[in-house]
Amino acid sequence: MAVPGKILCILMLLLHKSSQQEVFNDKDTLNHPGNAADWMKTLDDEKLISTLTIPGTHDSLALHGGPPAECQAWSLENQLKAGIRYFDLRVSGENLKIKHGLIYQHTTFPKAFKTIKNFLSNYSTETVLVRVKPVFFFKSKVPDLVKKIILNRYREYVWIDKTVPRIGEVRGKIVFVQKDSFELGIILSETDEKDDYIVTNVKVKEEKIKKHLEEAAKQCRAGNNSLSYSSGTSLGKLSMKIFHFWPKTLAKQINPWLYKHLAEEFEKNPKPCFGIIAMDFPGFDLIQKVIKFNT
Ligand SMILES: *[C@@H]1O[C@H](CO)[C@@H](O)[C@H](O)[C@H]1NC(C)=O
Ligand SMILES: *[C@@H]1O[C@H](CO)[C@@H](O)[C@H](O)[C@H]1NC(C)=O
Repeated sequence: MAVPGKILCILMLLLHKSSQQEVFNDKDTLNHPGNAADWMKTLDDEKLISTLTIPGTHDSLALHGGPPAECQAWSLENQLKAGIRYFDLRVSGENLKIKHGLIYQHTTFPKAFKTIKNFLSNYSTETVLVRVKPVFFFKSKVPDLVKKIILNRYREYVWIDKTVPRIGEVRGKIVFVQKDSFELGIILSETDEKDDYIVTNVKVKEEKIKKHLEEAAKQCRAGNNSLSYSSGTSLGKLSMKIFHFWPKTLAKQINPWLYKHLAEEFEKNPKPCFGIIAMDFPGFDLIQKVIKFNT
């Protein structure tokens, strides 16, 4: 009798595994053939992009530098294929290096731009939002250097107006997002307040995300583009008494919660729209959950 019991146990394990959603990912491989590379093709051309719910990544190319610095595991190309449509690029210096803090991420703005442009030439139904955040060094030079590249060489591939475009106007294009000292593109309202990214308690963070998403839904109804974050870290508030979260350890706990929260929000009638949700280490199924709000 012991053998059937064992088999049953293995079967149950297999069933459990197959029904498990990938909400958190920290591997560089993308195991989803027939992935979400062209999910925008079914969207109505007339839809304003401010009415979308867009999966994004926070500090999108922070892949190196150990636990304090790493926010993502997938390359830019894999993120695009998994359906991510908002990228947060921290650009530094005269060579426009991508950095997280002081840590060089082994790529540059021109390289990242080309990767996105190549993706869009292959998947011309898609549109990709990009934020350029100038960081030190030569922070004040970054906006003009980036502008020069996109205006001189790639004018026809980018949307740099303030007005919110309709999907049909920006398919195959990169939509720039205006923030900080970078002054090309659509304007974003951020739902996070200063220091909301510092997390020492998961429950408190969950309540904040909930509140930010409610605010984002309001912004969406008002025709504004909004940006909310599910990411965070304890860095910046180091004390011996509190538990320290790195971006990855927090994402491991927050992403399953976010998935569940979005599943509940999805049941609302009418469905809310949340603008951009920028995440750390999102898994494939969490990204698809965000995308589903547009269907
Ligand atoms: C371009 O699209 C085709 C068909 O979907 C795919 O097989 C190919 O890998 C894509 N190439 C790139 C660079 O994304
Ligand atoms: C929409 O954005 C405008 C301009 O930034 C702002 O004045 C307005 O308060 C925003 N609407 C809502 C509902 O927050």
